Amino acid sequence: MSEQASNQRIYSRIAGTGSYLPEKVLTNDDLAKFVDTSDEWIASRTGIRERHIAAEGETTGDLAYHASVRALEAAGVDASELDLIVLGTTTPDLVFPSTACLLQHRLGANGCAAFDVNAACSGFVYALSVADKFIRTGSAKTVLVVGSETLTRMVDWSERTTCVLFGDGAGAVVLKADDETGILSTHLHADGGKKELLWNPVGVSVGFKENEKNAGVRIRMAGSEVFKYAVKALDAIVDETLEANGLDRHDIDWLIPHQANLRIIEATAKRLDMPMDRVIVTVDKHGNTSSGSVPLALDAAIRSGKVERGQMLLLEAFGGGFTWGSALLRY
Ligand code: ACO
Repeated sequence: MSEQASNQRIYSRIAGTGSYLPEKVLTNDDLAKFVDTSDEWIASRTGIRERHIAAEGETTGDLAYHASVRALEAAGVDASELDLIVLGTTTPDLVFPSTACLLQHRLGANGCAAFDVNAACSGFVYALSVADKFIRTGSAKTVLVVGSETLTRMVDWSERTTCVLFGDGAGAVVLKADDETGILSTHLHADGGKKELLWNPVGVSVGFKENEKNAGVRIRMAGSEVFKYAVKALDAIVDETLEANGLDRHDIDWLIPHQANLRIIEATAKRLDMPMDRVIVTVDKHGNTSSGSVPLALDAAIRSGKVERGQMLLLEAFGGGFTWGSALLRY
């Protein structure tokens, strides 16, 4: 599904960003104390050096709240002005109500629409795309978009092939309707046929108990298969996004990718003929935070002064489902 905004009068402009990482840091060396791995293996295969772990009792909603407060502050927007909250997560606080509803109440934004989007690591890009549609159609003027996860809650800490990859964190953006600039297009895809390459095969309807069909709430991943599929899918979506906007790859100022693996990020940068100093990399600091990763990277890029107003940004993500998506925007 793609949409081009060439003659669009209303754009969704990023008015402010925020992010939040839990206090506790787990380094690669810390991990090597209880699982058969090493800093050298993890850093060379993934680029990850450390990740943050939510404290006991600290939830996805808590992380989302702190990131959202910072984004609202940066945008100069009061929560009461929000028309909509869309929150990407695959680790909601509760089965229901949605984490977006819990967040809405905590922010004091009562009355506005609020819902979650589950697209695994593409959750934020999916949520951003949905929010953009609301703004473009005139259904909303001010929207909070969040990506928040406590992925480590479903990590098997004895499984070295997955436990080294994931971390907890959240990022948020406030979008405002603007008649001049903002999101140019978003592109979303999915391939449900590959679910067993990256999944957590438990749930309300299937059941949470260990049995032949499933074995506890934990992430399973066929790493190298996911890696190959992700690189191909991201290559294709980069081309699709540029083509939809009549742009050349050299028109992009910054690539802000999903932070799963530095080697996947480098492959996409190569496709764009982009030097790595035009790519935002934060995976070393927080590992794969799923939906949290793109807005965390975006916020870091903006707050560090790297990304400036008027620049062209390409956001992309890939995750379980499979799902993948992109957003091209003038900041
Ligand atoms: N420490 C040390 N050795 C390890 C570790 C570890 N943590 N994990 C695996 N190994 C070993 C394996 O056992 C294997 O050993 P063997 O050759 O003796 O059998 C060897 O290292 C190579 O394993 P591979 O799985 O082939 O390693 P690969 O180079 O593919 O890297 C990785 C694995 C990092 C998981 C990579 O495949 C990857 O990043 N895949 C993509 C993951 C991803 O991007 N997910 C995104 C979405 S996540 C989401 O949506 C929730």
